[in-house]
Amino acid sequence: MTKKILVLPGDGIGPEIVAQARKVLDKVNLQFDLGLVFEDGLMGGCSIDAFGVPLSDETLARAASSDAILLGAVGGPKWDKLDRAIRPEKGLLKMRSSLQLFANLRPAILYPQLADASSLKPEIVAGLDILIVRELTGGIYFGEPRGIRTLDNGEREGFNTYKYSESEIERIGRNAFEMAMKRNKRLCSVDKANVLEATVLWREVMDRLAPEYPEVSLSHMYVDNAAMQLVKAPKQFDVMVTGNMFGDILSDAAAMLTGSIGMLPSASLDKNRRGMYEPCHGSAPDIAGLDVANPLATILSASMMLRYSLNHAAVADAIELAVSKVLDQGLRTADIMSPGMRQVGTAEMGDAVVAA
Ligand code: NAI
Ligand code: MG
Repeated sequence: MTKKILVLPGDGIGPEIVAQARKVLDKVNLQFDLGLVFEDGLMGGCSIDAFGVPLSDETLARAASSDAILLGAVGGPKWDKLDRAIRPEKGLLKMRSSLQLFANLRPAILYPQLADASSLKPEIVAGLDILIVRELTGGIYFGEPRGIRTLDNGEREGFNTYKYSESEIERIGRNAFEMAMKRNKRLCSVDKANVLEATVLWREVMDRLAPEYPEVSLSHMYVDNAAMQLVKAPKQFDVMVTGNMFGDILSDAAAMLTGSIGMLPSASLDKNRRGMYEPCHGSAPDIAGLDVANPLATILSASMMLRYSLNHAAVADAIELAVSKVLDQGLRTADIMSPGMRQVGTAEMGDAVVAA
């Protein structure tokens, strides 16, 4: 049985880093006879240049009929002056909402080889391995009504709506409990139930789901405390689940505990675990085309794709082991370079992972 993967390299460093992930996928496809079939497409600025829109209906339809999507990154200064409605980022939002990719998985893993890259003391972060599950298609980023209105007194007021339905909370909650089952069976749900009614309901639904996952220990934390705890004692967490806005902020903070934006993968999944996989970083226009970008976040995103959408956990393990081996060999791209290590370019790093 074949599996169709839609590959969207995007803009900036996207094509360079995705090419490395493709090398790794081609290698495992052959070695483990996975039956993966790849198709290429355009999303972001490159699609605006070709079709006038950041995501065409044709590409969206191809995405919808794929088993998984591998994305580089979109955007760059060339398209910054365009009207908001057709900016490259709109392609990403359209993909997420059209395919209902509501579960955003953001691991923050500190590789022991890179322990000195973190801004925190080694004893606080060594061995860090947490997973933030962020709701991605609801909450205040999508809630209506929203806008800027003029009040009777002539003053203007900006407003957004924070809301979550029970079914929205339930589906992200189930996803998080399932992730916790696959890991260390600890789940922390983050809310602001002392202030926001929408999150009172969030907490209630999480508590209601808990008995269905008796092996998982569920805890609750207010988001302000969670932010403090993440920088104070991050290893107390295993899986965290939270809404769209809190997750956006907490996952970026958690990512930085690892000190290296070039190492962080992500997944955005629908209810059938079909998903879009991409590095957490952007298109890095400042280093595009220079063969210096770190391809490991994209390679690790491909590994997440094998684990979560394609049911090849053992192959995903093999790729993660290969990444670890390459770091053991002392190979480093510029962003993670430290004294005594050997600096390599984007393509050489990709080749080294393939060889490992
Ligand atoms: P960025 O993540 O592209 O870059 C931030 C800094 O990190 C830059 O100095 C860059 O050189 C460095 N960096 C990023 N990825 C790297 C890698 N793999 N290896 C080595 N260094 C790396 O964020 P920035 O500069 O805010 O945004 C640039 C463009 O990317 C913008 O147009 C933005 O809208 C877009 N963007 C796209 C995202 C996506 O496609 N999901 C996410 C974030 C930003
Ligand atoms: Mg963000």
